[in-house]
Parts: sequence; C-alpha cells; structure tokens
Amino acid sequence: MVRIRTAVFPVAGRGTRFLPATKASPKEMLPIVDKPLIQYAAEEALSAGAEKLVFITGSGKRAIEDHFDTDQELERELEAQGKQDLLDAVRGIVPSYASCIYIRQPAPLGLGHAVLCSRAAVGNEPFFVHLADDLIDAAEPCLGQMAKALGGRPASVLGVETIERDQTEKYGIVATTPVEGRLSRVERIVEKPKPEDAPSTLAVVGRYLLTPAIYNKLETTGRGAGGEIQLTDGIAALIADEPVYAYAFQGRRYDCGSKLGYLEATVELALMHPGVGERFAGYLDRLAVRRRPG
Ligand code: UTP
Repeated sequence: MVRIRTAVFPVAGRGTRFLPATKASPKEMLPIVDKPLIQYAAEEALSAGAEKLVFITGSGKRAIEDHFDTDQELERELEAQGKQDLLDAVRGIVPSYASCIYIRQPAPLGLGHAVLCSRAAVGNEPFFVHLADDLIDAAEPCLGQMAKALGGRPASVLGVETIERDQTEKYGIVATTPVEGRLSRVERIVEKPKPEDAPSTLAVVGRYLLTPAIYNKLETTGRGAGGEIQLTDGIAALIADEPVYAYAFQGRRYDCGSKLGYLEATVELALMHPGVGERFAGYLDRLAVRRRPG
C-alpha cells in the first residue's frame, strides 16, 4: 500500500448556502455536536496516515488556523481549573508529529484552482484531497479505505457513491468499468450533468487520492461548469494519460454543505455521542410523541 503523507483541505469556498451563519465565520467551523467539520476532516486524514495537513484558505477563514493552533492561555486556564478531559480535547486536536500549512487562494476561482494552489506544499508525491463538508461516518475512515483499495497501483482514486438520478447536477458523475470488489476504473467523468445527460448515477464525493500529475492538468484547465476551474475537468484530462479509479466507500455520508444534510449529521452523531446520546434519544422519543397527530 502506498503511504500518503499529505492531505489537502480546500476551505476557501464562500459557503453561501449557510448564510448568514457563514458571513463572518467559516462553514468548516460549523460544529457537529462538539467538533467543527474541519476537525472531523483532519482526524480522518491523520488516521489514514497523513502527517502534513495543507489548508487552502480564503478571506474570513482565520478561525480555522486558530482552531489548529495551540492556545496556551486556554490550556493554562483549563489546567488551573483541573478540567483534564477538556485540556486533553484541546491539546489533542493535532498530534505533535503532524504539521499544518496554510495557503491562501487569492480568489474563489473553483475547487480545481484551490487544489492547484497546494502544489508547492505537496511536491511530487500522491496526496489526499478532503472536502470537509462531506462528513463520512465509517468504521474504517474513508480515505484509509481508498488507499488500501488502491494497493500498490500508481494511480488516482475517487470516492464515489450512487445517488438519485435527479441529483446529478450537484456532482461530478463517472462512467466506470469494474475492476475488483468496490474498485472500478473511471472511463469518463463529467461535472454537474443534467440527469438525462449523466453517464451513470455514480457521484464523486469529497474524497480523492491524486497523483501529482493532476497539477500539470489543472494548470491548463479553463473555467468550466459555473464559470469555475473544476477539479473534475482536471481529472478528465488525467484519464487520458494514466489510470483513475473509483472506489465505492463503506459508510454513511452526510452532505453538510446543505442544511438538511447538516441537520441529519447533527442528529445522528448526537445519538452516537457517549456524553449525550442516550438522553438525546429520549428527547427525540418524547418529541415524536408530541408531534404525533391526535
Ligand atoms: P462548494 O461547491 O461546496 O462551494 O465547494 P462553497 O463555496 O463551499 O459553498 P456554497 O455552495 O457557496 O454553499 C466545494 C469545496 O471546495 C472548496 C470549498 O471550500 C468546499 O470545501 N472551494 C470551492 C475552494 O476551496 N475554493 C473555491 O474556489 C471553490
């Protein structure tokens, strides 16, 4: 299995679907119970072996840097108050072996452009791209599943999921041929096709393992769907030169970039939470009784 040392987190989008909440604070800092989305993302990448975390940031994203930085004053206060569990929680956000790098995307020109901004920090090796608003709850973290499925193949792999046909305009959609198990080979990829034009209902979600060859492709990728430089278009160009695989991950994905997905994640992760899960389940039961007609 190839060891992937670097994970890129594009966090420079405007998060318009969550306005006004995202006017002054980043979408990636929205909490699911007691952790922001970006922390779930970092934990997934770290558990898949990454030790260099590269954040592609934009205006109004300072809170993300603060979140991963040490806060000595807060740590002193928690220590003085004897709140060891909270102290461990804030100290353990990024382990000491890992490093965080922040790169500013000058303008939100699209996901492909955001990934291109990571080039100098990543260098000439394969890397993960993780979109924090796709939260995936899985027994084995999704990026780790993808690296394992790829085995020793020197290729890229995209996390995919089957969606309803009327949803294709929200995703990159792939046409594939089977390889083995959950792995298939991508023959074609299209960004946000109309349902009638979509080559399948297999959608790319926010998990990628990419070879550095993607950078040369992104350099020459023009504006695509929505007037943005699309990662999908860079991947489409990559397919001509080297294999790209799709991996149907195991786990439950929540689209936390949408209000409904965010609420579903909040409710389901709250139910699993060791501190509040049981009482929250009791509350939902009582709520269901109150809401029952008659
Ligand atoms: P989205 O399409 O979800 O856009 O971007 P958004 O701006 O975050 O949210 P909405 O649609 O306005 O509500 C997908 C991912 O790509 C990143 C975003 O931060 C998000 O993680 N992105 C997008 C960038 O980093 N830069 C860009 O120029 C565009």
